[in-house]
Amino acid sequence: MPRTLPPVTRVEVSPTTYRKITLGALILLTLIIISGGAVRLTGSGLGCPDWPTCDNDQLVAPLEVHAMIEFINRLITGLVSAIVIAAVLGSHFRLPRRTDLVWLSWGLVAGVLAQIILGGLVVLYELPPVLVIGHFLLSMVLLWNAVILHARASAPRSYAQQPWQNSQKQPTDTIKLRSWLGNTLVAITSAVIVTGTIVTGAGPHGGDVDAERINVAISDVARVHGSMVVALLCMLAGLMLWLRLQHAPERVQFWSRTVLGVALAQGLIGYVQYFTGVPELLVGIHIAGAALLWIATVFFWLNLRSPLTSPIASSAVAVNPLPANKAAPVNEVSPVNTAATVNNAVPVDKAATA
Ligand code: HEM
Repeated sequence: MPRTLPPVTRVEVSPTTYRKITLGALILLTLIIISGGAVRLTGSGLGCPDWPTCDNDQLVAPLEVHAMIEFINRLITGLVSAIVIAAVLGSHFRLPRRTDLVWLSWGLVAGVLAQIILGGLVVLYELPPVLVIGHFLLSMVLLWNAVILHARASAPRSYAQQPWQNSQKQPTDTIKLRSWLGNTLVAITSAVIVTGTIVTGAGPHGGDVDAERINVAISDVARVHGSMVVALLCMLAGLMLWLRLQHAPERVQFWSRTVLGVALAQGLIGYVQYFTGVPELLVGIHIAGAALLWIATVFFWLNLRSPLTSPIASSAVAVNPLPANKAAPVNEVSPVNTAATVNNAVPVDKAATA
């Protein structure tokens, strides 16, 4: 008797689940920068002499500082690999499927693979500053990719694909100005980060004690780094005021305040660590601060490029509100973050298409 095979059920990932995966990827990619920094600053690279176990048959590290730091770093590395695989699979099984998310998730895979190769070269060539700096900067590129993936996974397709489309009522000059300001902000922040890595490469924490150093005076390059920070703070303060005068939506002002706050805190830590002989703990916090500032800057950049006002959305919400049970969740309405208000929403008919 012919037997009928059971129907094959297709795995489906909902937009909400996928959004959580992308958030997890962003968090883990941030944590690995911090744990990698901790390994370098504490010289814990050989804390676990074996692989994949920590020491001989011991899978988990003993309660010893170096072993623990290296073990935690390995653990986070494993989790990063798992979440990146989940992000790729999730983008393929997400319903509705979105090409932009598929490409961005493969971007994470490419970035992680490049980091593995670069990391190998760093060890092979005994921590030359150029490669150590490249390793750090590549993590920033990965973070950028992860922020955009998460922001797009949180936004409706119509918005993500046509960021400018809803802003016809905005004068073109203002749109161009916002875009230019956003790009300039990213450029100055990048310059701050790059000069920071050069300070590290010239100082006591580049590579390990025996590693080659960049042959520049720390005070000179720290002065350049500090001057870039002053330029950044001036720009951020000016942007905050300008956005307020423009009556920009709260979500944009929120990111402008956040970025300025993080930059101020980071600048303070920078000066304190410089004048206290770069203690490891402060340098570790400075690395975490750099990663957080970069994440906040990319979110701010995305928000600056997005429509500042959406008159169509406000009228659509007012005239034809969705019934409560059909209302799109905030994250599907919000263009690039979760701090959306109804006034900032994209048109309701498009927001519901995910
Ligand atoms: C927005 C503010 C700032 C950002 C985003 C930033 C970013 C960075 C980055 C990415 C590094 C390299 C970390 C590494 O490769 O391990 C670094 C190192 C450093 N920064 Fe900053 N920095 C900021 C403010 C400052 C300020 C105001 C100073 C004061 C001069 C400063 C002093 C230093 C020093 C001394 C190092 C080397 C630390 C070490 O020994 O590794 N930073 N910074």
